[in-house]
Amino acid sequence: MTFTIQPLQSNQPGVDFGVSVSDLDLEKITDDEFKQLEEAVYTHQVVVVHNQGHVCPKTQYNITKRFEPEVDTYGHGAQHRAEQSVIARDLSPLPEVPQVQLLGHGTVRDYQGIKERKLTHPNHRVFHQTHLTDEQEAEGKTRFYRWHMDAALYKLNPPKVTTLFGVKNPEPRRQTLLYDDGTDDTLDVQLGTTAFISGQKAFEILPPDMKDLAFRTKVKYAAHPYLWMSKARARSTGLGMVCEGKELSHEELPPIDEDAIKIYPMLWKNPVTKKIHLQVHPAAVEDLIIDGKPIGDLKKVRDLLYQFQRPSIAPANVYAHEWQDGDFVLFHNRGVLHSVVGTLKDTDTRIFQQCNMASADDPIPVTEEDFAPYRTENFTAIKV
Ligand SMILES: [Fe+2]
Repeated sequence: MTFTIQPLQSNQPGVDFGVSVSDLDLEKITDDEFKQLEEAVYTHQVVVVHNQGHVCPKTQYNITKRFEPEVDTYGHGAQHRAEQSVIARDLSPLPEVPQVQLLGHGTVRDYQGIKERKLTHPNHRVFHQTHLTDEQEAEGKTRFYRWHMDAALYKLNPPKVTTLFGVKNPEPRRQTLLYDDGTDDTLDVQLGTTAFISGQKAFEILPPDMKDLAFRTKVKYAAHPYLWMSKARARSTGLGMVCEGKELSHEELPPIDEDAIKIYPMLWKNPVTKKIHLQVHPAAVEDLIIDGKPIGDLKKVRDLLYQFQRPSIAPANVYAHEWQDGDFVLFHNRGVLHSVVGTLKDTDTRIFQQCNMASADDPIPVTEEDFAPYRTENFTAIKV
């Protein structure tokens, strides 16, 4: 048995990733179908399987685990439960399958072993430095909440694949997403969309000197990154943070295990297509190490990162998924960035389940040989 894949529908000319599947039942997936699905996730980055409303949490867990058979730890381990962590407020584990997280909006009753839980869809007001006005929100304006990959970025390696299951969505209405970063960029989106951008595109659209700099750069993440950033505020695009000196000091953090600090290359190789992805979780970065030398200045680091990543979230490159109830999305977490979007009202209900596993493997680095096709004579190497 095989299933058919079709390109995702998007009006955005730069979106060259993502497929949908309508003839697969994840409750009855065969080994051959899983192999095909696995290859599709790494090849196309985002796979939407429609009509899976009947899929139980255990099946979501089992499918997610098949991408990482040797590990049984949720992508954030237990770190996201620390109360002040910026992750804690958005996720709650299902009692019977704790690797699957419940998220959404509104009060959920008698759901998968949970008697009652009030869920809150993340709103930019709790994370961004500047806010939309009440009037703007009433008019249906919204923002990207936080561009990220799902990863603890301390002690644990980033999950390879995340599954995001849209069990129930609010009544659809359109919202206008504002970038509010001095550009007039906007995006027309469905309420509660999830936005994705391709890390491969993020790399491909860089000019030769920035490609070269990316290849020479390693990214150092903060220890306990989600606590470290818990008082800091994000840019209006949700792409990284502004500098106001609000990051927690080492004394304010739990003890730091130096060996648990994560330093990854800026460029990661796709395990199937062998293509290069620029893959950075901007909010959690503490330093960039260029040609072996740390920059050591957080403002410089963030400004440079923004230069690397802002082109990739231009409206033309964003796939904003229009959820239907029962959509089961699998995405290559090491190949895309994604963001929660939308300003929901008290009367809107949304029930989602998310699952991923911290990986046993480091991301695959890009070698000189992989980078060779991008070498050109026509640039001057950037010195930082
Ligand atoms: Fe996420």
